Amino acid sequence: MRIRRCAALWLEPREETRFELDVLLAGGTGVVSSMQWFAHVPQLDTPVEVDVDDVTLLGELSPLDWVAATPLRARHGVARVRRLLQAGVLVGSTKAWTAGRELDTRLRDMHWHGLSAVCHARSRWESVDAAGEVEEAGLHNAEGLRQAYGVPPPMLHTRPDGGACTALPKMPRNAFDQLLDARASCRNFDAGKMLPLGQLAQVLERAFAERGRVRGADDFDVLKRTSPSGGALHPTECYLIARKVEGLASGIYHYRPGEHALQALPLDEEQVLAGAGKHAAAEGMSALDYLAWIAVGGQPYFADAHALCVLAPRFERNFWKYRNHSKAYRVCILDVGHLSQTLLLSATEQGLGSYVTAAINEADIERAFGLTAWLDGALAVCGIGPRAGQMETYELDPNQTVWSRSGKTVA
Ligand SMILES: Cc1cc2nc3c(=O)[nH]c(=O)nc-3n(C[C@H](O)[C@H](O)[C@H](O)COP(=O)(O)O)c2cc1C
Repeated sequence: MRIRRCAALWLEPREETRFELDVLLAGGTGVVSSMQWFAHVPQLDTPVEVDVDDVTLLGELSPLDWVAATPLRARHGVARVRRLLQAGVLVGSTKAWTAGRELDTRLRDMHWHGLSAVCHARSRWESVDAAGEVEEAGLHNAEGLRQAYGVPPPMLHTRPDGGACTALPKMPRNAFDQLLDARASCRNFDAGKMLPLGQLAQVLERAFAERGRVRGADDFDVLKRTSPSGGALHPTECYLIARKVEGLASGIYHYRPGEHALQALPLDEEQVLAGAGKHAAAEGMSALDYLAWIAVGGQPYFADAHALCVLAPRFERNFWKYRNHSKAYRVCILDVGHLSQTLLLSATEQGLGSYVTAAINEADIERAFGLTAWLDGALAVCGIGPRAGQMETYELDPNQTVWSRSGKTVA
């Protein structure tokens, strides 16, 4: 048998603190801290606790070259090698270790940059009620944040090393300025209204549809969209949670940019609702409503959107060109940012409310839509729908462009 290290690995020296009564009674603070090592392997759901001798062993092994198991076991002990193989930190060449090896090979073959893969893995959430946690910590408004964190860095930045200022001309404002000014993240959707299919279609078309194509080579084409895309690869797919769209059955869909069509996807209601039990706020929700709620990290004002668009890059398309590239994952994130802004402006132009959020439960979304996290995974969710007549949840609209001027009222 031969062994090598997993493809991507980050070793984290972490300080763990715990409370011990004995230490308090002996006159101390009661807080005891110790240093521990954790091995972060992107394809594993959780970090693996390792000790300093494991770290030494891992430092000896190449992620590429296989070494014979016997001398490794002789140097580091049979139990240690077996434990790290079982954990998935080491990869074994024999049949017994096929599952871990295949998982590792999948990641290798996709050309993920190691640190990006770790970052992607560790920033994913599963069944997190982020809104509930933030509210419980009193961090859901500016006063709470100010109290907990003090004053933030200044709103406007002045460079102390700067020279003279050149005043810039104020150009006449036109309809484009009005459109830009009318966009505000919507946290007040009208539950009593349906989103007309035509409006949804136009937003999807403007943000995601094929606007042209170019032949890259004999056997591949390059998609043209209204937003730019790193490497012209446009890896990002739009998946839809349609809750209240007039003329469209409630359900989940995949948007097909070439045909400008929505393809229905199967929704495993039982699987979607499996995690609902641990959230009191989710009691009584339908599978689709729960999916919307958990998708946006338990933010009820976002879950209320009539249609939610999951933006999920097919990483493998970008990494086909940018192999093990330190900028590739960043490019995927930036692509999603561009697409979301186009979507928000398109919705605004229709008089609809819209938002984008990255506070999403990737694992729940991916399970529902049959995504994989590695080949294709969710990075953001946007919502659109008719705005409510009254602002119940706070929105940032200091110039009252969206609310009072449009005849809507602020509660
Ligand atoms: C990447 C990104 C993630 C965001 N996530 C959230 C979120 O989780 N919850 C929320 O209420 N707003 C979220 N927002 C909206 C911001 O709070 C909002 O953009 C900001 O308050 C400025 O308001 P405006 O969008 O109305 O100009 C997000 C915005 C961006 C760009």
